[in-house]
Amino acid sequence: MTTIGFEGRVAVVTGAGGGLGRAHALLLASRGARVVVNDLGGSVRGAGGSLTAAQRVVQEIEALGGQAIANGDDVATREGAQQLVDAAVQAFGRVDVLINNAGILRDKTLAKMEPADFEAVVRVHLLGSAWCSQAAWPVMAQQQYGRIVMTTSAAGLYGNFGQSNYGAAKLGIVGLMNTLKHEGAKFGIRVNTVAPVALTRMTEDLPFARMLSEAVPERVAAGVAFLASEACQFTGQILSAGAGYFSLVQMIEGRGVHAPAGQATPEFVAAHWGEIADMSQAKPYDSAGDALVAAFAPR
Ligand code: NAI
Repeated sequence: MTTIGFEGRVAVVTGAGGGLGRAHALLLASRGARVVVNDLGGSVRGAGGSLTAAQRVVQEIEALGGQAIANGDDVATREGAQQLVDAAVQAFGRVDVLINNAGILRDKTLAKMEPADFEAVVRVHLLGSAWCSQAAWPVMAQQQYGRIVMTTSAAGLYGNFGQSNYGAAKLGIVGLMNTLKHEGAKFGIRVNTVAPVALTRMTEDLPFARMLSEAVPERVAAGVAFLASEACQFTGQILSAGAGYFSLVQMIEGRGVHAPAGQATPEFVAAHWGEIADMSQAKPYDSAGDALVAAFAPR
């Protein structure tokens, strides 16, 4: 088996003051990475803030002989993201790995959702992932090396009652990855996404939290560390990870059906729904262009 190491690498982990981010930071540091432990230190809803959570994780890393610095910048703003990357470059000279993990929850059905709660969730998850990636981009491009790991959720991939804000942001992150995998290719930047399941403060109140006793954050961190490593030559992949379970998630499109000229009517769609929804020959596409070519190609 290939050994996954991070000697000489610098990793920025957002939201690493607890939960999954802490586990990612500890694992990368234990494998030789110098780590920037970012965390705003607020509540699950994103209220308040303090550097203490990040500092505690830095102490844990140092106690194990690793190197890390704490950072309390707010990744939901472009300025905060830039300050975070600048702090990494200033302390350690480069940024090889960015793990976009920071997140908050403001659950409510859309009918009852305050606009501020929708926007706050989108800002932290989606804009935070975009701004941190944008800030790290020129550093990684100049190095001709980078690994970005996004964090999505089954709530975005499949849907979950009461999480329209969170689900929209989390699937938006997949869309962000789908474009960045193309934009990063020539710079050696690989962009992948983890869909984690772990018992953390974010999930401890769920009705099925007891089922998650096996789902310790460290088991997700194993998958994230692989995606963050040089050994990972894939890009644009979604890795579902929890409780030691790992699987690939893909967006796939069916073979479809072509309406003859002049027959593309609502009735045609209704009459051919069986063929349209037949996923037996479904496949993933690497780009919008590939999907278009496949759709319009003569059969
Ligand atoms: P958590 O609440 O322990 O960790 C999130 C961290 O992000 C917190 O420490 C928080 O202070 C930090 N944070 C929030 N807003 C921030 C900001 N603007 N700037 C910097 N830091 C900020 O929760 P958990 O479970 O560890 O979540 C980590 C990630 O995994 C999140 O993106 C979450 O949506 C995702 N996730 C977790 C799942 C689970 O089963 N725990 C399932 C699916 C996704």
